[in-house]
Amino acid sequence: MADTKLITFKVRRYDPDKDTAPHWEEHKLNVHDGMTVLEALHEIKAEQAPTLAWRSSCRMGVCGSCGMFINDLPMLACQTQVLHLNTDVVTVAPLPNYDNVKDLVPNLEPLIEKHAAIKPFIIHTNSKEIDEPTGEFIQSVEQRDEYSQFTFCIKCGLCLAACPTVATDPLFLGPQALAQAYRYTVDSRDCGLQERLEAIDAFHGPYQCHMAGACSQACPKGVDPAFGIQLLKRTLVLDSIGFGKKEKHLSKVMPLADVVKQIEEFAPPPRTVK
Ligand code: FES
Repeated sequence: MADTKLITFKVRRYDPDKDTAPHWEEHKLNVHDGMTVLEALHEIKAEQAPTLAWRSSCRMGVCGSCGMFINDLPMLACQTQVLHLNTDVVTVAPLPNYDNVKDLVPNLEPLIEKHAAIKPFIIHTNSKEIDEPTGEFIQSVEQRDEYSQFTFCIKCGLCLAACPTVATDPLFLGPQALAQAYRYTVDSRDCGLQERLEAIDAFHGPYQCHMAGACSQACPKGVDPAFGIQLLKRTLVLDSIGFGKKEKHLSKVMPLADVVKQIEEFAPPPRTVK
């Protein structure tokens, strides 16, 4: 059997039906190389704390549901190996800057509401083309590069947990929503800046960002929301003095017949193995 190391887990517990305040529980566990905090929690739950609650799903850093405050930093439990923390004591608490539903479960509703507020979808002036498309909007590699990194956001909410502005202003839209506002606004197919202004060009919008950069350090997918917020500020300033990109043209639509032709041209050869 692989070598193991005895680790003490200090887990913050809170059951709103029983507890008037959160408290800490200690659990000792033999941890082997490669074991993640999420796997450790599963073992603790199976052997020592059957009512321990948290949220997780994919176990592979994709769904974004297992965000926790591990040794005082927001991290994904499924992506954090216990022995990589280089400590004999691991503290696990719910993400800060969110209400605590139970034990390690944060209430992520504000994250989702702020994300929805910035209209996270392509808004085009020609709704007919959106509803009944006659072709495909062409986008160059350079145009896609303008927003590409922001598409990696998995909405785990770690950036809001790390943000010092959210800590003092819960209404601040926050790094996740603001970076996504930039992602859609800069998209060559989008004409929605004016529709988003009500949400993003407000008191609790990008100008409240202190540029601490904690959001970008916390992001488990390498997104740089702090940079996105600064780019969004530039977009708003340019728009306010009449240099915004207001119209993007439908002439860039590629007819469906050409799309089909392109797909056929790049189609893989037929299977030879039955
Ligand atoms: S369980 Fe899906 S990101 Fe961790």
